[in-house]
Amino acid sequence: MRTETAGGVRLEDYQPAPYTIDRVDLNIRLAPKATRVSARLAIRRGDNTAPGTALVLDGDDLKLTGLLLDGSALTFQDYEASPNRLEIPAPPSEPFVLEISTELDPDANTKLMGLYRSQGTYCTQCEAQGFRRITYFLDRPDVLAVYSTRIEARKGEAPVLLGNGNLIETGDVAGTDRHFAIWHDPHPKPSYLFALVAGDLARVPGEFTTASGREVELGIYVEHGNEDQCGWAMDSLKRSMRWDEKAFGREYDLDVFNIVAVSDFNMGAMENKGLNIFNDKYILADPDTATDQDYANIEAVIAHEYFHNWTGNRITCRDWFQLCLKEGLTVFRDQEFSADERSRPVKRISDVRLLKSHQFPEDAGPLAHPVRPRFYQEINNFYTATVYEKGAEVVRMIKTLLGEQAFRAGMDLFFERHDGGATTVEAFLDCFRDASNEDLDQFALWYEQAGTPTITVKSDYDSKAKVFTLSFSQSVPPTPRQADKKPMTIPVRFALVGEDGSDLAYETVSGVEVKGDVLKLQAPEHKVTISGVNERPIPSLLRGFSAPVILESDISEEDYLHLAARDGDPFNRWQALQTVALSSLTAGMEAARDGAAIEVDGLLVHALGTVAEDESLDPAFRALALQLPAEADIAREIGSDVDPDAVAAARNHLRRTIAREKGASFARLYESLEIDGPYSPDAASAGVRALRNTLLEYLAHSGADGDAERVRDHFAKADNMTDRLAGLTQLVHARLEGAEDALAAYYERHSTHPLAIDKWLTVQATDGHPEALEKVRALTAHPAFSFANPNRLRALVGAFATGNQTQFNRADGAGFDFVADTVLALDEKNPQVAARLLSAFRSWRALEATRRKLAENALRRVAEKADLSRDVKDIAERSLQ
Ligand code: ARG
Ligand code: ZN
Repeated sequence: MRTETAGGVRLEDYQPAPYTIDRVDLNIRLAPKATRVSARLAIRRGDNTAPGTALVLDGDDLKLTGLLLDGSALTFQDYEASPNRLEIPAPPSEPFVLEISTELDPDANTKLMGLYRSQGTYCTQCEAQGFRRITYFLDRPDVLAVYSTRIEARKGEAPVLLGNGNLIETGDVAGTDRHFAIWHDPHPKPSYLFALVAGDLARVPGEFTTASGREVELGIYVEHGNEDQCGWAMDSLKRSMRWDEKAFGREYDLDVFNIVAVSDFNMGAMENKGLNIFNDKYILADPDTATDQDYANIEAVIAHEYFHNWTGNRITCRDWFQLCLKEGLTVFRDQEFSADERSRPVKRISDVRLLKSHQFPEDAGPLAHPVRPRFYQEINNFYTATVYEKGAEVVRMIKTLLGEQAFRAGMDLFFERHDGGATTVEAFLDCFRDASNEDLDQFALWYEQAGTPTITVKSDYDSKAKVFTLSFSQSVPPTPRQADKKPMTIPVRFALVGEDGSDLAYETVSGVEVKGDVLKLQAPEHKVTISGVNERPIPSLLRGFSAPVILESDISEEDYLHLAARDGDPFNRWQALQTVALSSLTAGMEAARDGAAIEVDGLLVHALGTVAEDESLDPAFRALALQLPAEADIAREIGSDVDPDAVAAARNHLRRTIAREKGASFARLYESLEIDGPYSPDAASAGVRALRNTLLEYLAHSGADGDAERVRDHFAKADNMTDRLAGLTQLVHARLEGAEDALAAYYERHSTHPLAIDKWLTVQATDGHPEALEKVRALTAHPAFSFANPNRLRALVGAFATGNQTQFNRADGAGFDFVADTVLALDEKNPQVAARLLSAFRSWRALEATRRKLAENALRRVAEKADLSRDVKDIAERSLQ
C-alpha cells in the first residue's frame, strides 16, 4: 500500500508490505540545528514478493546524507531519493542491511511531528506518520521491528537520555563533552511507537510490582521545579497498572516505564512503548493551579496511555483505517477505569455529555465519517470524537449485548490470538463471535455507517389486558459518501417504572429479541408487546445510554419529570431532566427569535429545585442535573436554521428565572456546602465543590446584591483552583462588578504558570458578550500568549471557536473571519493544529441563512488559498462538500 497517493488512501487498496524490516538500529547524534541520524535497517523480502521488486521507503522533508547497502555505498543509479521518498529499484532478493544517514533540524520543526525541541528538550511524536521525518522507512503500522537506539548529546544540554524499552548501556564519548545511552526494546513494534527524549529534566521516581512479581521502575520526567506537581500522575499510573491486571488480566512487560511531560505538544499524550510522552497539562497538578476536572483528566489520560500498552502496542493496527481498534477500545477501558475509581453513574453522565456535545455534532455535519473510515486524505484528521468516543460506545455495546462474562472471554481471546500482531476490526469482532456464538454481522455496521441513528418510540397501555406496547422505528441519516443506510442492531436497556418509582414486573416480551433487560432492535420497525403489566408504566428507555442514538419518544413532560424524580437508573434521571430542559429551551429559542416573550416551564424549575435539595443524592450527580444543556447542545437539538443569539437568550432567560425563584434556597445550600480542611482531589469532595460551584453560577445571575458579593467572596477566599476559577468565570461571564479586578489578581498570582494562564485566557475567550472578539484579538498580542504553543492557542482561539457560540457565530461574520485568519496564519507552522481549529466550523450548515453564508465565505477563503497543507485543505474541502 502506497500511503501518499494524490487522491487519498482507500481501505480496499490495502496490500501487505512487500518488504519486512526486522531490526532497526538507530544512532542519533543530537544537536539543535543539525542532528545526525543513522538507521541500520535489516530488511527482508516478503514471502509473496517477486525478487527484484522495488523497495520504496517513506520520507517527509528529509535530507539524505549517506546510503550503504550491506556496507557498500550505492551509486546514484541504484537509488532515487527525494525529501519524501527513497526508492531502491532493484534490491537484493536475499535479506540485506540498508544504512541510511539523514540530517535533521529539530529547532526548525514547528509542526511538532518527528523530532523537535520543546523548551530545549528534544522529543519526538511519530504517530501517525512522524517517523518518516526522522529517517526513510516503511512507515506503516503493520511493519513491526525490534529497535535499538543509541542517543548521543552534549552532557550539559541533555543529561537525561531516554528511549523505548530497557536501558542497556551508558557512557561518555571520549575526548568530547558528549555522552550516550543505548536503549533496547525487545518487543517488536511499528515505527509510530518509536520515541526518544533528551534534555535537562528532573525525575520523579516510583515503583510497581506486577501481579507476577516483576519489579518495574517508574519515572516521571518534568522541567526542573515541577517535581512537586507529579504526585497525582504517579498515583494514577500505579492505580492504572493494578486495574489492568484485575479487570483485564494484563500485566506490564518491561522493567522500566517512563513518562515525560512536555509543554509543546499537538495532542493530549502518546503511548510510545515504555516511554509515554505527555502534554504537560495531563501531568502537572497541584491544588493551587489545577481544577478537579484537571485531576480527573490526568487520571484518565494516564490510564489511557498506559492501557495502550496492550490495546495498541502489544496488539496494534494493521493500517490506519483500523485506528478505532486501539483508540475506541482504549477509551472504553479508560472510561471503565475511571468509573471504578470514582462514581460510575457520574462518570457515565459526564462521558455521554461529552459524546453528545462533541461527537453528535460531528456526526450530523459535513465532517461525519464512520468509526472505521474507508477513505482519507490526511490521517491526522481522523483522530476524532467519532473514532475515539463513538468507537468506545461501540465496544460498550458489544459488552451490553454479550454480557460481562462473554465480553471478557472475547477480550481474552483477542489478547491470545493477536498478541504481537497488527490486526483489524473484523478480527476483533471474530473474537467476540467465537467467545459467545453471538451473530455480529449486522452489529458490524456500527463501524461502517456514519451518522447518529434516531429511534422513535410510541407507547400504549391497555389497562384491561394489562399489556404495554412500544412501537419502535429506527433511521440513520445520510452522511457524506453514504446516502443510503441499513438498519442497525441497537441495544435498548429498559425498565417499566411504576407510580412509586420501582421497576414493575412483567410476564413476556414479544416482537423483538430480548436478553435480560436489553431489547435488541434490528429491524426498521418493531412492535414490542409486554404482557402482565399491572399498572400504567412509564418506560425508562436506553438506560445507561445503552446505545449512542437520538431517542424521540411520545413520553409526556409529566412522565419525564416522574422519571427525573424516581427512575432507578441515575443516568436516566439525569437524561429525563435534560430532555425536558431541551424541549423547554427549544420553545424558548423560537419565542426569542420571533420577538415574543419567553415562557418558563414552572414544573422544570420546581424539579431542578428538588434535585438540588435532595440530600439522598450524590452531590456530583446533583451538580450535573442542575447544569442546563449548553448552547451548542440546544443548537444541535434544533438542527437547522439556528440563530445562536436566540438560543443564548432562551438559555439565559431560563437560568435567570431559576436563579430568581430558587435564589434563597440555593444560597442557603451554597453556604452549607463549604468544605473545611485542606483540599483533596477525591471524587467525593470534588462532587461537593461541583455542586457548590453550580449553585454559584445561578447566584451570579440572580440579580441580588448579596449574591454578587458572594461571588466576589468566593473568588477572593478560594484556597484551590477549582473554586478560584469558578469564581472568576462567574464574575466575568455574568459581568459582575469586580470582574476586571479579579482578572488582574488572577493574572498576578499565576503569571509564571502557563497552564493556569490558559484558564485565564479561556475565561475571557468564552465570555458571550459582544466585546469578547476584540478582547481575544488583543490577547493574541499579550506576552503570555504564544502562537507557537498549541496549549495557548487552544486556550484562546480554540476556546473562542468552540466554546463561544454567540461570538464565534456573530451575525457580522467577524468571528468566522478571525478564526479563518488564524487558521491561515498557523497553517505554515503547524498544519495539524490549524486543521483541528478549522473543524470548529463543522456545524456551519445548521446556522440561519445570513450566518451560514458568512461561514461559507470564510471557509472558501481558506480552501482557496494557495499552498495549503494537506491537513487544512482536507478539512476545508470536506466542510464545504
Ligand atoms: N495515540 C495517541 C492517543 O490516543 C494520540 C496521538 C495522535 N497523534 C496525531 N498526530 N494525530 O492518546
Ligand atoms: Zn489513544
